[in-house]
Amino acid sequence: MKFSCLLVTAAAALVSTSLTASSNELKSRVLLVPGLASSRLSASIKTDGAAWCRTHGNHFALVWISLRRIFCSHYLKLVFNPITKTYTNRPGVTVKVPGFGKTNTVECVGSFILCTLLRSLNLMDQMVKFFVRQGYQRGADIRAAPYDWRLAPDSLRAQGYYAKLKGLIETMYNGKKVTIATHSLGSLTTLYFLNSVVTSEWKNKYVKAFVPMGAPWGGAVQTLSGFLYGYIPASNQRIIPRFIMNYSRCIIRTLQSAYFLAPRPDVFGSQVLVRTPTKNYTAQNYQQLYQDIHYPIGWQKHQAALGVIKGYPNPGVPTFCIYGTNVPTPEQLVYNKSGDLLNAIPKIIHGNGDGSVNKESLEICHRWAKKVTVINKVNHSDIVRSSQVMHEILRIATADTIQ
Ligand SMILES: *[C@@H]1O[C@H](CO)[C@@H](O)[C@H](O)[C@H]1NC(C)=O
Ligand SMILES: *[C@@H]1O[C@H](CO)[C@@H](O)[C@H](O)[C@H]1NC(C)=O
Ligand SMILES: *[C@@H]1O[C@H](CO)[C@@H](O)[C@H](O)[C@H]1NC(C)=O
Ligand SMILES: *[C@@H]1O[C@H](CO)[C@@H](O)[C@H](O)[C@H]1NC(C)=O
Repeated sequence: MKFSCLLVTAAAALVSTSLTASSNELKSRVLLVPGLASSRLSASIKTDGAAWCRTHGNHFALVWISLRRIFCSHYLKLVFNPITKTYTNRPGVTVKVPGFGKTNTVECVGSFILCTLLRSLNLMDQMVKFFVRQGYQRGADIRAAPYDWRLAPDSLRAQGYYAKLKGLIETMYNGKKVTIATHSLGSLTTLYFLNSVVTSEWKNKYVKAFVPMGAPWGGAVQTLSGFLYGYIPASNQRIIPRFIMNYSRCIIRTLQSAYFLAPRPDVFGSQVLVRTPTKNYTAQNYQQLYQDIHYPIGWQKHQAALGVIKGYPNPGVPTFCIYGTNVPTPEQLVYNKSGDLLNAIPKIIHGNGDGSVNKESLEICHRWAKKVTVINKVNHSDIVRSSQVMHEILRIATADTIQ
């Protein structure tokens, strides 16, 4: 009895592998590029600091995100050189992005325990499982290109990320072009690649479609809360202890990607983003804001980061833009008292967007997208878990001619 069950199972496994193998030939493979903080980072930490953070020998320890090393995250702080406008890790620290080309580090951003406890951390796991149910094989038909999300595209280029990305897409090409589906910051990371790294001949040969989801093309007001008091989801800010906010703020102020995602003047114009009784701050007077929070170096980082992608260049491939709308989204931070800019938690005025990214920033893709899919009342993180979105990506990947 047992033996025949085994045989049946073995036969079924054989049939299913041969099915997968033969349908592989037909698939346009899908590459995922995750967003800010949405893939793992490991580090070798050889400093005089906290003993529980230090690593030994050639060992790289998971830092983002590990319960055990959650308070070692300050070793992920970047050091800015104001002369060269470049970033390095802290002395004694080396950071690695594990899992390039696989999907596991975007399916589960943290250690096994964290992923089990906090399902909300795993943004792309349902997307990968969906494609696997459609016969896609992990690491072959569906892959991911995680990157060091602390950095903006110019630094990623210097680090060699785009050369690896180009090689990965060429490897995935199986006679059918590759579909690139990106989330949030990953969409800007990919826009830079398509616009400034590869040629149109290369794109015509290898890229079937670019599917950016919830892309903050023109930045997001929520980013400013990171510099001011520590980045946290706007909805449940009251339950986060203040020392954790302070801790995260001191890290966020060093991240190039945070400046890269600040609201851009050409999109937010004269809109008041931060308000105190005596001063209004718009995207046109950041310099003043950084002065008033006693962080003048922030202005230099900010200027350098906003210049990384100039304007909103056309990616030059068929683009299918997807985003959520009608979710209350931070639009203005209001401080009661003038001195509060340094210490208080502001009141947040909400406007339209996907909960994290403002509508006017999401909408920029209308300029060049072949198709835009706007999904009502689905927020920034749920957009990659939406079944409508998964079916749309599958449709794009499998259609002979895409509309
Ligand atoms: C957080 O930072 C603010 C401003 O620097 C400070 O006033 C406050 O005491 C800090 N809170 C904690 C718990 O560290
Ligand atoms: C700031 O802007 C608001 C409009 O958002 C305006 O009502 C207010 O008077 C301005 N305050 C200052 C100090 O300019
Ligand atoms: C602003 O001031 C009012 C009353 O003066 C107070 O109730 C409220 O909590 C303050 N809001 C913030 C965000 O500090
Ligand atoms: C997005 O929406 C889901 C379901 O409505 C909710 O559980 C989640 O907290 C929201 N995420 C954010 C970042 O607001």
